[in-house]
Amino acid sequence: MSPAPAARLVQTQTHSSQADAKPKPIKTFSIYRWNPDSPTKPELKNYEIDLAECGPMVLDALIKIKNEKDPSLTFRRSCREGICGSCAMNIDGDNGLACLTKIQDAGSASTITPLPHMFVVKDLVVDMTNFYNQYKSVEPWLKRKDPPTEAGKENLQSKEDRAKLDGMYECILCACCSTSCPSYWWNPESYLGPAALLHANRWIQDSRDQYTKERLESINDEYKLYRCHTIKNCVHACPKGLNPAQQIDSVKKLQISAN
Ligand code: SF4
Ligand code: SF4
Ligand code: FES
Repeated sequence: MSPAPAARLVQTQTHSSQADAKPKPIKTFSIYRWNPDSPTKPELKNYEIDLAECGPMVLDALIKIKNEKDPSLTFRRSCREGICGSCAMNIDGDNGLACLTKIQDAGSASTITPLPHMFVVKDLVVDMTNFYNQYKSVEPWLKRKDPPTEAGKENLQSKEDRAKLDGMYECILCACCSTSCPSYWWNPESYLGPAALLHANRWIQDSRDQYTKERLESINDEYKLYRCHTIKNCVHACPKGLNPAQQIDSVKKLQISAN
C-alpha cells in the first residue's frame, strides 16, 4: 500500500492581483476503507479537504467528506461533544474521539483507522459486542441485600463516599483504553480490559452496594484481572482524562487485603 501523500498548499486564483492570492490550506485525510459487501482487501483512501471550509475537529472533516465527496464512508457519531463515546477511532496512531481531536495543520496528511485489534464491521465502525459483554459481566448496577432504610426511598450516600466514585463514573465506554492495551490485544476474550475493570471498581467502591465481596471474587482471576501488567497505554488513551490503570491497581490491592 503506497503511503498517503503529504498535504500541500494550493495557490488559489483571486479576482484581483497575484499579490492577493492566499495559500489554500488543503489537507489530505488517508482513511481506512473496507466494505464487507465487496470482498476486497482493506485500503487507505485519500480525500483532500479545504480546511478553510471545514470545522476544526476530525469529526468535522469526516462529516464533510461523507456529505460532499463520498457518501459511502461509514463511521459512528452522535453527540459531537465527547459524551456518547461513539466516534472513537485511531487518529494518526493514537486512539481518541474524532469530535474532540483537532485537525492538525495542513502541513501533513492524517491517517484515520478503526480502533486497533477489533473486528471491523465497515470502514471505521468496529464490532463492540465483546467489549459490551465484558462491561455487562461486571454487573454495572447497584446490588443490594437490604431494601433502602426508608422503604421506597433512595439509598443515601455521604458526600465523602460519593467523591470516591470520581475518576470512574465519568467513563463514556468509548473503548479507547481497552483497544490501546497490549494485554487486551492478545487476550481480548479472557482479559476484561481497562474499561470493564474500571467499572468493576466503580461498583466495588460504591458505599451503597452490598455485593463488594462477591464482586471481588468474580474478577479474582488470572486472566480477567491479572493480565494487566501496568503498561499504562490506557491512561494515555483515555479522552476523558481517566486513569484505568490506577483503578485496576486499586482492585488488585483490595484482592490482597480480602485474601
Ligand atoms: S495498565 Fe493494564 S489495562 Fe492499562 S494498558 Fe497496561 S496492561 Fe492494559
Ligand atoms: S476509561 Fe476512558 S478510554 Fe476507557 S472507555 Fe472509559 S472513557 Fe473511554
Ligand atoms: S460524537 Fe459523541 S463522543 Fe464523539
